[in-house]
Amino acid sequence: MVLTGDRPTGALHLGHYAGSLKSRLALQDTHDQTLLVADTQALTDNADDPDKVRRNVLEVVLDYLAVGIDPTRTTIALQSALPALAELTLLYMNFVTVARLERNPTIKEEIQARGFGRDIPAGFLCYPVSQAADITAFRAGVVPVGEDQAPLIEQTNEIVRRINRQAGRPVLTEAQALIPTMGRLPGADGKSKMSKSQGNAIPLSASPEQIQAAVRGMYTDPGHLRAADPGRVEGNVVFTYLDAFDEDHTEVERLKAAYRAGGLGDMVVKRRLDETLQALLAPIRERRAQLARHPDYLLEVLRQGTERARAVTQLTLDEVRAGLGLFSLFSASR
Ligand code: TRP
Repeated sequence: MVLTGDRPTGALHLGHYAGSLKSRLALQDTHDQTLLVADTQALTDNADDPDKVRRNVLEVVLDYLAVGIDPTRTTIALQSALPALAELTLLYMNFVTVARLERNPTIKEEIQARGFGRDIPAGFLCYPVSQAADITAFRAGVVPVGEDQAPLIEQTNEIVRRINRQAGRPVLTEAQALIPTMGRLPGADGKSKMSKSQGNAIPLSASPEQIQAAVRGMYTDPGHLRAADPGRVEGNVVFTYLDAFDEDHTEVERLKAAYRAGGLGDMVVKRRLDETLQALLAPIRERRAQLARHPDYLLEVLRQGTERARAVTQLTLDEVRAGLGLFSLFSASR
């Protein structure tokens, strides 16, 4: 089983595509896969704007289907409609310390970025525990995520080992992060990460004009003033994007060599990237517009997927309860 999730806080963008949507497209051919619309997790830093989270649930489903996720092969489920996840979270909370949560490098970084200071919502600090519940409830062996999520998988496996030790048998299974080799996609402005909140994201639904404008304004090599000058490829966002999205690697390598040697202008490279992104996003945009006319269908996809996920997650919860020796009031074995 393969599991990943996304927080429904906005439209998915190229960073999501390079970071995990692309792997998920490949994995649905070979694996039993579930995508979790993580609305409960989104609340951990959006409790003051639940409306935004609710509005974006079907938007994320729309993005999935538009890029080619096939709901007959991939289960799409809504986190807040799976009570077993909440109950597992509560049980797991006893197998992780606050100090360990505070040491999680991803959480540390996110706390900084959000400016929480000392006023960290407890739900936010503990979201790795809820993510551990997600991953283990589905018995996910593989979790295709960006590298920023690796510490969360590590923390999940720590919880798994503790629960199993306490239960005296392997009630839960460890998971492995599947991280794309290219690393995370920088924003169009050259900042470390593409993110909607930083205003440097190119959404999957971007119009041709939006794509063009984003590429035109993209960060290159500030020392490359004239086309004739030798330019730097490393840290040059246009080349990073070509590496991520241009399938013709030989041509990209040729362009890099020419750029390094001098004589290749930014405009030429940007034109190539513009063509590449236009070709990638045009069919996604079209499918998205078509599907957006059928909200009932999107709802039905999510409902059916969630139904399936309910059964799976409840089964895991039953086993964890039994493993931890909770008093079972409504079943024969006590
Ligand atoms: N934390 C993930 C993100 O921000 C979303 C997520 C929620 C997730 N539950 C998950 C990812 C389970 C992988 C597995 O993108």
